[in-house]
Amino acid sequence: MTASARSFVLRHTRLRPVPGLEELRLQLADEVLPLWRAAQVETGDPDAALPYWAFAWAGGLAIGRYLREHAEVVAGRRVFDLASGSGLCAIAALRAGASEATGADIDRFAAAAIGLNARANGRRVGVVARDVLDDEPPDVDVVLAGDCWYEAGLAERVQPWLRRVRAAGIDVLIGDPGRRYLPTDDLDELAEYEIRTTTELEDLDRKRAWVYRLRPA
Ligand SMILES: C[S@@+](CC[C@H](N)C(=O)[O-])C[C@H]1O[C@@H](n2cnc3c(N)ncnc32)[C@H](O)[C@@H]1O
Repeated sequence: MTASARSFVLRHTRLRPVPGLEELRLQLADEVLPLWRAAQVETGDPDAALPYWAFAWAGGLAIGRYLREHAEVVAGRRVFDLASGSGLCAIAALRAGASEATGADIDRFAAAAIGLNARANGRRVGVVARDVLDDEPPDVDVVLAGDCWYEAGLAERVQPWLRRVRAAGIDVLIGDPGRRYLPTDDLDELAEYEIRTTTELEDLDRKRAWVYRLRPA
């Protein structure tokens, strides 16, 4: 995590309780567009990614709620949070008793946010700041994937990788608010939640979101 990315995150967000998961606190923003513009200026890249890391997404919130109710899924287990964003799922897993957690994200601001947010919650989360979707499955017990199906290109890579992860005997939990690119044919539904979100991100400020387990092939 670079100092400049860390200071960018701190400058543009505020530490506050997570809606529906008030026991967790994250560095969160109110508005997407001004922060996106600031990220473009900071990186000198007009194609800089949206600041996903500054929001708790509906899929991740559903996983957080599920882990609060079903700590046994991660308690004492090693967890990998794919497309971690703010680190929400990794931090929720540690709070539920995971023995260790790693967050992976391609955005360098996300890498900074994960570290800051983990610390703000009195936890330590390992960070993998690169694309892991062509890698072998990680050496963990559980992979969490919160809100990874919002665009076709990412969805097409995430799904086969998660199948490889599952084939390696690793439990895979998915959180999703009904995004169009999530194929649900090899998923078992575990829970459904009403999630408080924001119209900065979604069409409505309340969404249904589901937690699924990927079935072995
Ligand atoms: C909608 S956000 C979800 C964040 C978090 N899981 C949550 O639910 O709040 C999607 C995240 O995926 C990350 N991402 C996109 N492509 C990725 C890739 N190939 N590998 C890892 N992360 C990726 C983005 O940077 C972003 O932080």
